[in-house]
Amino acid sequence: MTASSKSAAQASTANPVSTEQSPAERGRALRDTLGQFATGVTVITTLDANGLPVGMTVNSFNSVSLDPALILWSIDRGSLSYDAFTQGERFVVHVLKGDQQHVSNLFAGRGADKFGQVKWHSGPGNIPQLDDCAALFHCRRAQNIEGGDHTILLGEVLEFSAGGGEPLIFHRGRYRALAGE
Ligand SMILES: Cc1cc2nc3c(=O)[nH]c(=O)nc-3n(C[C@H](O)[C@H](O)[C@H](O)COP(=O)(O)O)c2cc1C
Repeated sequence: MTASSKSAAQASTANPVSTEQSPAERGRALRDTLGQFATGVTVITTLDANGLPVGMTVNSFNSVSLDPALILWSIDRGSLSYDAFTQGERFVVHVLKGDQQHVSNLFAGRGADKFGQVKWHSGPGNIPQLDDCAALFHCRRAQNIEGGDHTILLGEVLEFSAGGGEPLIFHRGRYRALAGE
């Protein structure tokens, strides 16, 4: 097999994808290979400049620091919610439970009516808070860091709580359940 005939599916540790591939092939392979990293799934909410609830599904969430308490996630510059999140003062991260695939799909819809179909209320700072989730983190937006076609948002955790339950997992473009212990 020549280097240029390598597809995303054929990328392997023995045949790394390199700069020899076309940008399109490389992009597809990079996305697929990053998908090997299993993550949880979150819905992150805020208010837009008109005070309307905004939210999106996010799996780039991660912990950064315990003291001070910091978390991060990254937002696509093309998201309709981009201005609301990159300019808003606060946001809330909801870690989804294993039975909340439908919530993940709902909030992954572009500009959809997301809040008409879930139970939520106004939490601290009036930020929309989903009634059901495995854990939540109320954050103050501490810093925006440029990251290519995304912007990394660093959040200072102000309040947090754990609802428990099994988490929703995302791996290779599919939802999964945790394997039994
Ligand atoms: C499992 C999953 C994880 C996602 N993670 C992110 C993410 O970390 N950052 C991001 O910008 N978009 C992410 N998305 C895509 C957004 O949820 C999607 O683009 C959404 O439509 C954005 O909403 P908006 O355009 O109404 O703002 C993810 C989607 C799914 C299904």
